[in-house]
Amino acid sequence: MLQEIEKRAREIEKEWESNAKEISDLKGLEELRVRFLGRKGLLTQLFPLLKELPPEEKATAGRLLNSLREKIQGEIERLKAELTEREREERLRAEAYDFTLPGMWRPLGKLHPLTQVRLEIERIFMEMGFEVASGPEVETDYYNFEALNIPEDHPARDEWDSFYISDGVLLRTHTSPVQIRVMKSRKPPVRIICPGRCYRRDTPDATHFPVFHQVELLWVEKGLTMAHLKWVIEEFVRQFFGPGYEMRFSADFFPFTEPSAQVHIRRKGGPWLEIMGAGMVDPAVFEEVGYDPEEVTGFAFGLGIERMAMLKYGIDDIRLFFQNDLRFLKQF
Ligand code: PHE
Repeated sequence: MLQEIEKRAREIEKEWESNAKEISDLKGLEELRVRFLGRKGLLTQLFPLLKELPPEEKATAGRLLNSLREKIQGEIERLKAELTEREREERLRAEAYDFTLPGMWRPLGKLHPLTQVRLEIERIFMEMGFEVASGPEVETDYYNFEALNIPEDHPARDEWDSFYISDGVLLRTHTSPVQIRVMKSRKPPVRIICPGRCYRRDTPDATHFPVFHQVELLWVEKGLTMAHLKWVIEEFVRQFFGPGYEMRFSADFFPFTEPSAQVHIRRKGGPWLEIMGAGMVDPAVFEEVGYDPEEVTGFAFGLGIERMAMLKYGIDDIRLFFQNDLRFLKQF
C-alpha cells in the first residue's frame, strides 16, 4: 500500500512537471491548480488513503504527500507571479503610444473665392457705415421691374430676361428689388448694401453665366450728389484693388437712375473694364416707395461679384467659379 502511494505520488509529480512547463497564462494555471490541488484534485485524492496505513508508514507517506503538495503550491505561487508580470508587460506594450510620431493630417476646407470676395466687399462697406440687407431670390414682377420704373412693355426688360416661376413671379435678375423693399420698410436716411444671387437667361460663355452674384448699394439722405457716389466708389476701388487703379464714369441708362453711369476701372495703362452700373435714384422710384424727391436724393449701384473676383485674381472664365474643380478652388 505504501509503495502504491509512493508510485502514484511520483507519477503525479512527473505529470505536474510536464504540465507546468506548458502553462502560458493565468487562466491555464488556475485550471492546473484545480486539477492537482482542488477538492477532487489528483493529489488531494491520495490523502484519504493515509488512514489505511499502519502508523510508521503513515508518517512516511504523510511527509511525502505534504512535501509534494508544498512543492506544487510553491511553484503555483511562483508561476502566478511570473505570469501576472508578463501579462502586465504585454498590456503596457499593446497600449503604448509613440508621442514622437508626426501629428495626424486633416485636409482643411476653405471659403469659395466668390465668398471670400463677397466678405471682403461687405467688410469695406460696413466700415464706411453701410448695413447689410437681403431680399428674396424668387421675386415678383413688381419688385424686380415695375417699382424700378420698368413697365411691362419697356424695351429695357430685354436686358434682364429672366426665368419665370409663374405669371408675375420670377428669379430676380438683379439685386435692385432690395432697394424697393428696404425703402418701403423704413424712412430715410438709408444706407445699405445687399449682396446676393441673381439669375438671367444667358447662354454660358467666358463672361456670362445664368447664375451670378451682385452687391447692390443704396444711400438715400438729404443733399447727396453724384460727387458722393464718386467718392464711395473710388474709396471702394482703392481698398479692394489697392493703389494703382484708374476709374472712369461714362453715361449709361437705367430706368431707375437719372443720371446713370457705367463705371470702368483699369490698372494704369491697361484696358478699361466695366465693374458696375450706377446712378442717382430716379424721382419716379422715390415716389413709388413714398419718399419725397424734393426732400431727399440718393444714389445706387450694382456691382458684379464675379467681375470683381475675375479682375482681382486675373481669372478669364466665369464658368470656373461653378465647376467645383479643386485645382482651381485651391488657389484662393
Ligand atoms: N441693377 C442694375 C443691373 O443689374 C445695376 C444698377 C444698380 C444700376 C443700381 C444702377 C443702380 O444691371
